[in-house]
Amino acid sequence: MRKCRPIFLFGLLLAGLAAGACRPAVAPPPVAPAHPLVWDAMTKTLATAPDAQSVSVSFTVTNTSDRPLRIYDVRPSCGCTTVELPRTPWILAPGEKGSFRGTVDIVGKHGELAKMFYASSVPGTQTLTLILNVPEPDPQARAGNQQLATADRQAVFRGTCALCHAEPAKGLMGAELFAAACAICHGSDRRASMVPDLEVAKEKRDAAWWAKWITEGKEGTLMPAFSAQRGGPLSDEQAASLTDYVATQFPSEPPAP
Ligand code: HEC
Ligand code: HEC
Repeated sequence: MRKCRPIFLFGLLLAGLAAGACRPAVAPPPVAPAHPLVWDAMTKTLATAPDAQSVSVSFTVTNTSDRPLRIYDVRPSCGCTTVELPRTPWILAPGEKGSFRGTVDIVGKHGELAKMFYASSVPGTQTLTLILNVPEPDPQARAGNQQLATADRQAVFRGTCALCHAEPAKGLMGAELFAAACAICHGSDRRASMVPDLEVAKEKRDAAWWAKWITEGKEGTLMPAFSAQRGGPLSDEQAASLTDYVATQFPSEPPAP
């Protein structure tokens, strides 16, 4: 103990000098009181499996105050994300813990993605961030899929292919149906060279033109027939709602020369 004393005194002297030298001219801004809802992490990072279609995360919160607190809502930053709250209203007693679960649809997404969850409560909204690292799909698997579809363009609607190419479209209409069934190929950020960009009209395109492409696709190409009569996943009602959507959302004439 005694041996430490000179060092201790020297330390005190240094600290005193430092405090004197660095004393701020104005008072520092007041520190905001800590939020009474304390999360297990404000940011979580997950790596996903190469063939994953969705990723789930849960965030756990503790009410560190001495009164009940209510989380009104947890809003995701993206339409591709759903949130399940443990109950509504979600009220946490003092000291109580609870978790919500978020699920992000990652079909067709690659690289680093950031998804936010906004948890609103009376003390103030908190932002929770999920960072996802989605690996590039295996190029050999992609070549294999193209080969299977070249042999039979309806193969996309069967077996494991259906998990990404048919299941997500179930029960959807219009814009949502387009996003699930068509954008997977036509809107991919890695769109293949044989898949045309639908934003570019090469000819006049009316509703009948779209309806024919949707229901029949094209023999001898990778564009499948989507109507149920031809082995596709879409009912007549879905095909009609999709035709309405694309015929109004995409250019109907080639650009003027
Ligand atoms: C995990 C989801 C998933 C599965 C399973 C899947 N695909 Fe795909 N497919 C995609 C995505 C996403 C694209 C768009 C291109 C990209 O991003 O790789 C695509 C594009 C395609 C294309 C257009 C050409 C191209 O390479 O872009 C064809 C043809 C195709 N898939 C066929 C198939 C077949 C056949 C199967 C089953 C053997 C299958 N896919 C399974 C997600 C999937
Ligand atoms: C498996 C990938 C894939 C999916 C899914 C897909 N397409 Fe296609 N689509 C293609 C390919 C490949 C072509 C090119 C056909 C050709 O060579 O003429 C094409 C061509 C088209 C064309 C013709 C474009 C033009 O200017 O010639 C239209 C229209 C079209 N698709 C609409 C759709 C719609 C609407 C959906 C959703 C119901 C959809 N496609 C889903 C691969 C796909």
